[in-house]
Amino acid sequence: MSIGDLVAATAAQIEEEGVVPEPVVESPMSGRARFAGREDPLVVLCSNNYLGLASDPDVVAATVAAVHEYGAGSAAARFIAGTTPVHLALEAALAELVGTAAAVTFSSCSTANHAVLATLADKQTLICSDELNHASIIDGVRLARAGAKQVYPHADLDALRELLTSHPLRDQAIVVTDGVFSMEGDLAPLPDLVDLCRRHGAFLVVDDSHATGVLGEHGRGTTEQLGVLGEVDAVTGTLGKALGGAAGGFVAGSADLARVLRRHARPYIFSNPVPPGVAAGSLRAIGRLREDPSLLARLRTVTERLRAGLSELDLEVLAGESAIIPCIVGEESRARHLGDALLDEGVLVTPFAYPVVPRGTARLRVQASAALSDDDVDRALTAFRSVTRLS
Ligand SMILES: Cc1ncc(COP(=O)(O)O)c(C=O)c1O
Repeated sequence: MSIGDLVAATAAQIEEEGVVPEPVVESPMSGRARFAGREDPLVVLCSNNYLGLASDPDVVAATVAAVHEYGAGSAAARFIAGTTPVHLALEAALAELVGTAAAVTFSSCSTANHAVLATLADKQTLICSDELNHASIIDGVRLARAGAKQVYPHADLDALRELLTSHPLRDQAIVVTDGVFSMEGDLAPLPDLVDLCRRHGAFLVVDDSHATGVLGEHGRGTTEQLGVLGEVDAVTGTLGKALGGAAGGFVAGSADLARVLRRHARPYIFSNPVPPGVAAGSLRAIGRLREDPSLLARLRTVTERLRAGLSELDLEVLAGESAIIPCIVGEESRARHLGDALLDEGVLVTPFAYPVVPRGTARLRVQASAALSDDDVDRALTAFRSVTRLS
């Protein structure tokens, strides 16, 4: 079959499966947002806008001011003419936030994950990756020219210890894990991972995209939450979730790591950086997190209320400390039906099914946000009560 025919056949199959079109958002993202074709704004339970900063007036103003000062962008990669003072200030603030000496920004966390794995690995390297790691880590492992790539069972320290003890390439090992696993909402066993990696001289990379600005007393991530701040070799993260909700990513670690990435990471050298406006908005978002403890406090209150309310329903709610509350419903058809029914009640929660999660574990992934008012939470829980009773 030619590629053209293959595309046509696959597109026809997608059409037949009746995949729901992407919702088109027509307002700033917040606790409620306006969507095309809907008269009233929907309560949003599936954005990663954890701190509600995507529509924060300060963040928006900082973004706009930087656009006026620097324009849309400097039309160049960082080393050519793409570095502005805002990029440097953002990197210093990110490093300070996650407790490392330095940070390097990329156009997304996906590219940050690709960059750190592909740059550090060579034929002598063993990469050990948790089986539930995010797709961008999996792709980073694929891109890396490592001598060996091993996927260990989820959070299985014994299996990982065995690899780090016995594998022929154990002397140059990288261990990579999510800090918070995006579909389960659980946390990686970081203190044990730090200990294990230290004992075996392995380099630990933690993708904290769902934890930076969310977990830990000051929102510094899973490392702060679990008492290992500054003890991980590389923290990767996104600017597209709690830290303003725009786009961009980073790798944070030692000054040497930053130097190596700036010199050798292909997505850094051969690609434009985040635009200065986005960098300035993200920088302001970090400032808001630092200055206003009520943001994290609100996120926690909303998380607890949602978790408690959902746990009373006919759903399997996965336990956890993060702002991700997965409600397992089993079959894809039930997940879709519940998603549609919630939509009719004015609540947006996109269902996830195979291949994003294993078959039979389709789920509604509820995400808390400081932007949700008490009224939004009440509305959401009432809707959940009504649709689960009927399903
Ligand atoms: C754990 C994790 N890592 C990386 C990413 C990708 O982030 P970005 O949108 O910045 O590429 C996501 C986004 O869904 C994620 O959940």
